[in-house]
Amino acid sequence: MGKRNSLQQKYEDSRRRLLMDRSVPGRMGVSLPPNDVPEGPLPPSDMLRDEIDFPEVTEGEIVRYFSQLSQLNFSIDHNFYPLGSCTMKYNPKVNDEVAAMRGFTEIHPLQPESTVQGALKLMWELQEYLAAITGMPGVSLAPMAGADGELAGMLMARAYHLDRGDTQRTKVLIPDSAHGTNPATATMSGFEVVTLPSDARGDTDLDALRESAGDDLAGLMITLPSTLGLFDSNIEQVVKIVRDAGGIVYGDGANLNALLGRVRMGDLGFDVMHSNLHKTFTQPHGGGGPGSGPVLVGPRLLPYLPTPWVTRQVDGGPNSAPDGKKKETFGFTTPEKSIGRMAAFHGNFGALVRAHAYISSLGKDGIAAISNDAVLNANYLQSQLKNDFDLPYDRVCMHEVVLSAATLKRQHGVSALDVAKRLIDYGIHPPTMYFPLIVEEALMVEPTETESKETLDYFIEVMKTIAREAREEPSLLHDAPHDSPNTRLDEARAARQPDLRWRRRA
Ligand SMILES: Cc1ncc(COP(=O)(O)O)c(C=O)c1O
Repeated sequence: MGKRNSLQQKYEDSRRRLLMDRSVPGRMGVSLPPNDVPEGPLPPSDMLRDEIDFPEVTEGEIVRYFSQLSQLNFSIDHNFYPLGSCTMKYNPKVNDEVAAMRGFTEIHPLQPESTVQGALKLMWELQEYLAAITGMPGVSLAPMAGADGELAGMLMARAYHLDRGDTQRTKVLIPDSAHGTNPATATMSGFEVVTLPSDARGDTDLDALRESAGDDLAGLMITLPSTLGLFDSNIEQVVKIVRDAGGIVYGDGANLNALLGRVRMGDLGFDVMHSNLHKTFTQPHGGGGPGSGPVLVGPRLLPYLPTPWVTRQVDGGPNSAPDGKKKETFGFTTPEKSIGRMAAFHGNFGALVRAHAYISSLGKDGIAAISNDAVLNANYLQSQLKNDFDLPYDRVCMHEVVLSAATLKRQHGVSALDVAKRLIDYGIHPPTMYFPLIVEEALMVEPTETESKETLDYFIEVMKTIAREAREEPSLLHDAPHDSPNTRLDEARAARQPDLRWRRRA
């Protein structure tokens, strides 16, 4: 990237000035009309403060300030964002428009059910869509995120074993290719976690699984596809071994965009799973929210489902088929042995509206096209980049590909972090790095189904260029990014000692 002359640097510095630093005494952003009401008494003087600084700027300056601030953020609406495991895909704006309709935003969770029948119908239909997509008959939309769905699932597994008097079932097996939330959730639910190794192909090691599947087995949590971006080819045996040993099989289905319309966890014999609506089914997310992680169960766990669960009554009795003339009534129900609530109300309703809009606008064929395109895009990247980076598991991947910079590091001192930072100079968000933990110098790339071939080709060209730069001019990567608002931050310090308040310079 070229060097800036002093004038360009001045412009760059001015763009980064804080609002308070732009303040000039006496400037105004508004003209207030003369006071036409009687002045009232001020609060007591000990409640008044005169040390508060307000920025004194014009309206134009404040508009520029916030517009410039918004441009310092990288977002999926700006550019390619191949963040593995996070599915930063383009979300159609029409879904936001639907979620913003007054009929949805101006209702209250404490309103009588009779006054929110439309919202309840939407939730019931979404439950039905998700049940059809996953093959799991019971769905609770209550969990607020993927990890919350996992927690609900593992609390149900615990309630199931305790109900049967199986108090010795305390062990949960988790492959080393699982998402990090899986062991955290199992531990929070009171289980002891035992890590299972992956075999040479990246699948669950069946011998290790058999050895650990005893009377103390509460269950297994498996991420499918795994964080290696692979579909476990042993999955049918894995499910059988765990079920034969009396354990519950949990499927982390956060990355359903790899499986939609092709594989249903219910058909594979899973007892419980969750789906991240904010990844697979459209929901702008990032920075911690907002999310939605419905939990889905098979027959064994149905009575334990979190409350509330939306059910439908059709005039003429519970088995009466709706025919367009019979009245349908929707309401909240608590399953017989429910583990209780996951949150105060009924889940993240705006995310549910978006997911409903997305699924119903795509239909069955559109849903299957998602997994087609997500898997095709990832395999295209893998085939084009496997000679420039290491590919730890050289087999067909699912929706994401895990590359490695291990050889670049050994031979040229260039790490996965350097590669990721250099991508910023080319306008691309870094992929997930150093995860999964079992891959050295990992670069986990998820192109998603929404990117065009032109974007993927640009990314391939950039990655090849970076691999060449690493070999020929590694210092270029060590100092990257060169042209971004920030360079390399001390992330630990930024998180532990955030400086969020403007202070007047002495
Ligand atoms: C495979 C997998 N499981 C679980 C989660 C956790 O989801 P959340 O961040 O919504 O809690 C994620 C998040 O990216 C994930 O990729």
